[in-house]
Amino acid sequence: MELTGRTVLLTGASRGIGALLATELAKHRPHLVLVARDARELETVALRCRETGARVTAVAADISSAADRERLRQTSGTVDVLINNAGVETTMMLTDQAREHVEAQIATNLVAPIELTRLALPAMIARRRGVVAHGCAGAQVDGCAGGLPPPRRARVQIPEATYPQG
Ligand SMILES: NC(=O)c1ccc[n+]([C@@H]2O[C@H](COP(=O)([O-])OP(=O)(O)OC[C@H]3O[C@@H](n4cnc5c(N)ncnc54)[C@H](OP(=O)(O)O)[C@@H]3O)[C@@H](O)[C@H]2O)c1
Repeated sequence: MELTGRTVLLTGASRGIGALLATELAKHRPHLVLVARDARELETVALRCRETGARVTAVAADISSAADRERLRQTSGTVDVLINNAGVETTMMLTDQAREHVEAQIATNLVAPIELTRLALPAMIARRRGVVAHGCAGAQVDGCAGGLPPPRRARVQIPEATYPQG
């Protein structure tokens, strides 16, 4: 898909893979909507992207919050490309994790990408054009299969996948 002028919503854009991705995407001069919780870190990436001439909207938001997702939907407008990159990883044993910690991972790594996709899809389907990519890794609970050696880590994720349309 030609990205110039298209709206690309990228979560987890403030550092790591997301920050690198934002910088690369900016070279194609889309309207970049960059999302992360830390506004200062996000603005640093946004400034770098603007230097290439891209239009950038930085939205400090917690994707695990339904209210923030709705704010994001209203700010972004029609999304052409959704990149669900934001995610949290842990190396903690599942048995060492509090229920709240597990639920927070599910909310960020599983519910948020599904809900953001649900919000973006109707317009994509109507236009018969759009891309949804999941960079956050896998709807699986690693290392908790019964009978296997103790888990080294446990995380809740959705499968890495890209669903190009049109
Ligand atoms: N690094 C790897 O080797 C690897 C391998 C496979 C898959 N992945 C997946 O790729 C993605 C990026 O990895 P990374 O290593 O670049 O991670 P990272 O450096 O920890 O960056 C995570 C990004 O997600 C944002 N984020 C986290 N929770 C958020 C929330 N609730 N709402 C909004 N933004 C949130 C963070 O910003 P704030 O903290 O400011 O919100 C940050 O921008 C993750 O989903 C990870 O699971 C990484």
